[in-house]
Parts: sequence; structure tokens; C-alpha cells
Amino acid sequence: MSDHSHVYPVSDDFARNAWADKDTYQKLYRQSVEDPQGFWKEQAERLDWIKTPTTIKNTSYASDNVDIRWFEDGTLNVSANCLDRHLATRGDQTAIIWEGDDPNESAHITYRELYERTCQLANALKSLGVKKGDTVTLYMPMIPEAAMAMLACARIGAVHSVVFGGFSPDALAQRIKDAASRVVITADESVRGGKQVPLKENVDAALTRDGTDVAEKVLVVKRTGGNIDWHESRDVWYHDLVDGQDTECPAEEVNAEDPLFILYTSGSTGTPKGLKHTSGGYLLYAGLTHQYVFDYQDGEVYWCTADVGWVTGHSYIVYGPLANGATTLMFEGVPSYPTHGRMGEIVDKHKVSILYTAPTAVRALMAHGDHVMDSSKRDSLRLLGSVGEPINPEAWEWYHRVIGNSKCPIVDTWWQTETGGIMIAPLPGATDLKPGSATLPLFGVQPALVDNEGKLLEGATDGNLVILDAWPGQARSIWGNHERFIQTYFSTYEGMYFTGDGCRRDEDGYYWITGRVDDVLNVSGHRMGTAEIESSLVAHQAVAEAAVVGFPHDIKGQGIYIYVTLTDEVEPSEELRKELTQWVRKDIGPIASPDHIQWAPGLPKTRSGKIMRRILRKIAANECDGLGDTSTLADPSVVDDLIEHRAIR
Ligand code: PRX
Repeated sequence: MSDHSHVYPVSDDFARNAWADKDTYQKLYRQSVEDPQGFWKEQAERLDWIKTPTTIKNTSYASDNVDIRWFEDGTLNVSANCLDRHLATRGDQTAIIWEGDDPNESAHITYRELYERTCQLANALKSLGVKKGDTVTLYMPMIPEAAMAMLACARIGAVHSVVFGGFSPDALAQRIKDAASRVVITADESVRGGKQVPLKENVDAALTRDGTDVAEKVLVVKRTGGNIDWHESRDVWYHDLVDGQDTECPAEEVNAEDPLFILYTSGSTGTPKGLKHTSGGYLLYAGLTHQYVFDYQDGEVYWCTADVGWVTGHSYIVYGPLANGATTLMFEGVPSYPTHGRMGEIVDKHKVSILYTAPTAVRALMAHGDHVMDSSKRDSLRLLGSVGEPINPEAWEWYHRVIGNSKCPIVDTWWQTETGGIMIAPLPGATDLKPGSATLPLFGVQPALVDNEGKLLEGATDGNLVILDAWPGQARSIWGNHERFIQTYFSTYEGMYFTGDGCRRDEDGYYWITGRVDDVLNVSGHRMGTAEIESSLVAHQAVAEAAVVGFPHDIKGQGIYIYVTLTDEVEPSEELRKELTQWVRKDIGPIASPDHIQWAPGLPKTRSGKIMRRILRKIAANECDGLGDTSTLADPSVVDDLIEHRAIR
């Protein structure tokens, strides 16, 4: 990644027609950081408030008092902002285009229809006893009912917790328990790449785990009609309960700071954290960033390929686009099914203008060569977006040249589950692009780089990425554990939000994210804590100790490399390797599949017993020459054995 790579200047066409050109961006950005109260007061007019807020920003990052409030005396309803207020002007406009896994299946849902079906579901939830402040867990396929379920919760002031459909029963159980959800919404099966995933069976299994008896009702969408077990007193068919409900449901008035959703994500230690996002600031920020970063223009078809189980799906399939009255495409399947040309074919079929996807998807296509896109023209595309991990310049150039026919700017958007919305990204009418750089901060975002002691670094340099002041979209806490929220994000560097990412700033002030500086992996854009995988492995009777590190992977960005020390009586074998692989997949989910398991008679540890991951990362990356000082190890000879038996060379 060099600053001297090709620069793609803003095209005149874009600058003329976009929501922001260079001057507008600079003016708004300056105002947003010099006068946040004034800037956000004005921006608050984007939303329909029941009671207009008079207090705008009231935030503290002091580690003894992390307290983040925006618009705290305002009230509103998020679903009314995404639905009701559009009915008069765009009731007949398509809100959601649904594209099935099977290329012959698709549907258009208008704003009116989305409104009515959401109201019906909201009434159904009420009939199950769900009230304002209750949590509802969603474990769903990529079908319109997933968006309706989120909006229906928001409508009655309930808090949704969406769990990605690829997670295992244990992972699901943990999340149902932590959020104490009385109701779970799921489907019989989901369909991805022509294969069925047994969602209902996974819910059944999850609800046998200790502590999940809080869940009293399971609402089941019939997606495939596949065989499932039925628990008469607990399970309810979605169509039985929802279809007969009234198509009107009054929108509950909630405070701007009332929770909208919980979303679990991995950190460097402990169990996944349930980030708590609230209503007013989150929605405002999702809508604002969706409009400016994607330069969304009325009537365009916009497609974000994420799953609703991730924050990208929350902010940029559902809330941001719908707050803006956009047409958002929701795809049930995978980009490689039935062929690798599918993504381009969907673009042509629905005349997609804006495509937002992940570098891992781009690299997977790129590996098949330019011809992979021959089955489509993609001439409706105007803008491309990237999210989830650093995009290497080669993949950026290929995305630009092949998918975008060399005519679409690419917005590389850096953000996190914690940030609620995009933080650092180009605005296509305002920012010259450098492949591999997320470029400049959005309105209200004050990034900075610090050294390990927390000293602010100036000018072109490398450092740890922090954010100096609050923005409306950020998470307010960790569900049920504010102390952990403070510890994780606000105690490393006093008075600053620590992102966990390393970053470089170049001479033009452009930011280049270099990846996590903590023990968090990013595998195909999926975030995973090494500690989670390690604790899964040591729960296996054959495993005495395990250490997990990431290594560079051509397509996934990072792969999972595991060092396993077996208990004394166990011999290594291929069967055991397979068994451990299955074990982790079953425990966490297929996204945590190990790429390599190396048998390690011993792990490199300091004399105080701390595993030196730096050395393990180097060996996994096959960089054995630069191991640095190993003299502080309790037993330096273990390193030679690890090098000799390394999996990649
Ligand atoms: O390391 C950064 C990486 O993904 C992390 C956040 O992951 P998650 O909370 O799952 O959210 C992903 C979608 C917003 C970050 O700490 N990351 C995300 N986007 C980028 C990125 N790294 C580099 N460039 C990006 N555009």
C-alpha cells in the first residue's frame, strides 16, 4: 500500500450531480466538528420526531464516566420514520426488491405493503405479550420477513437482537440467554447456494441449553416447507398468527436514547459482546451516511450484499436506505450460485445503480479471471462500495475495471459494529480516490492516531486509530455490562474511543486501515475473537492447550491457524484433526472453520507463562526469518519444532 499508487480524481459528472462536492464536504465537515451542537441540530430535521429534541449532544468519554446521549429529550418511532412518513409520497414505490437464492424467484414489496405487513407482525408480537423494552431474538434467512421483524420490533418499542443464520445452536443459545429474549423469530430452513440450512432445528437445539428457558415462544416462517419438529406449546407458525392481524398498528413513542437493537460481536477476550444501539442518533446517522457516501438519488436501486445478521445489514440494507425512502435489494443467496456470474446477473436483472460488497467477494470472483463477469453487462452501475476489511489495491483495481466497467467510483467504507454507521470513507462527488485507502472522515468524526502510550501523533505516520469525540451513531453500552464497555473501548487511551485498528495517515491526510492490533481475526469480513476459538478447542478432551492466530489468505483476507498441544495420552492423527475442525464448526459455526491445525508439543511462552503470539503469527505466515528476540522464552527450543512442522511454506 503506497501513497504513490494511482489516484482517481472525482469526475466532473459526479461532482456536479452529487449530494456533496469538495466545497460542500469541507464546509459541512468543518461545521460538524467546530459546532457539533448546531450541525446535529440541523441534521436532526432529517427525522420525523414526535417531540423535537432541544438537547442535542450530551456526551462524556472520561473513563470514570462514559455516558453518551444524543437528542435525549426527543421522542420518535424508528419504524414510522422508515415507513409511515413515506406512504403519502411513495406508497407505491418499491421498498424492498427480494432476490431469491433460486434465480427464478424474486419479489417487489412496496412501501405500503411493507408498512402493512410490518404492522401485522407488530400486532402479532403484541399478541404474544411482547412489550416496549422486551428483547426479541431473530435467527432468520435473508427474506423480507427479516426486515419486517426488525421494523415490527421497532414499531412497538421492543429491542431486536439479530443472530446471523450461520451461527451454531450454542452460539445462538448464548445470545438468547444474554439478551433474555422471550420470543425468537426464525424460519423452518434457509436456502443458500441451493442448500438448506436447518434454522428451526438449530433453534430447537439452542433451546435445550441451560438458561434458555426464558424463550417461551418461537415464531416460524415457512420458507421451504421442509420437515421440522414441532413443540405444540411453544412453536407458532408465522402465517397462522400474522396473516389475520390488523394492517394498522400504532407506532409506540420511544425516547431517542431508548434501545433499538442489540448486536453481538467478538472482541479479543471473553464472550461476544452485545452492543447496545439506541434509536434517534443511530437512525439519523445511518440515514445521513447512506445518502452521502452512496450518493443515493431518488428512484435508484441500491444493493448491499451483506447479511442482516451483521451490522452492515442493519444499517445499510434496512435502516439507512428505508429512512431515506430508497429501494433496497435483499439477496437470499450467495454470489457463486448457480454460477460465479450471479452478482452481475442480479445487477442487470434489477438495474442496480449502487453495489456495496466485501473485498473477500471481489477477490473470490477475481480468482476466476475477467471472464467470470461475461454473463452480464452491469451498465446500470454508477457507484461501488467496499466494507468489512482492508481492500488490497489489486482487488480494488479489478473491482473498478471489471465489475464497474472502469466508470464507477469505489467508496471504501471503514466502520465497525460499535460505530453504527460509516466513519471514514470517500464521498464520491468530493473525494479523490486512492485504491486501498478509506480516505477521509465523515461528518462529526474526528479520527486520530496515537502511539502505544496514547500520545497523539501528527502528520503522516502509523499508529493506533482512535476517535476523539462522540458521534450520534455510536453504541452506547454493552448489554447488561457498562463496565465492560468502558474497559474495552475507553480505558486504553484516556478520553478517546479506541477502535482496535492500526492505521496509517499519508501526506494528504488520507487514512489507510492496516488491520486489527488486538487478538481479533477478520476472516472473509467476519469478525472473530481468537479467545473464542481457543476456549472452544480446550473444551475438547484431547486438547491441553490451543493458540489461534490469523495468517494472510488470498481470498479470505485472513485465515485461521491453530496450534494445538494435545493431552499426554493422546496421539496426533488425521482423524483427530478432522474431529477438531468439526468441533469448532459445530461450537461456533462454519465461519470459524480452521484452515490449518498444527500439532504443537509446546507453545512459545515467556517465563511468566504468557504465550508469545507474535512468534506464532510469524510462523503461521511462513516468515520464520524475522522472529526477533526469542531469548526471553521459557523454552526457546519449542520454536524450532514449530518452524519445522509449520503448515505453510
Ligand atoms: O478491522 C476493521 C475491519 O472490520 C472491523 C469491524 O468489524 P465489524 O464490527 O464486524 O464490522 C464490519 C462492517 C462494518 C474493523 O475494526 N474493517 C471494516 N471495514 C473496513 C475494515 N478494515 C479496513 N477497511 C475497511 N473498509
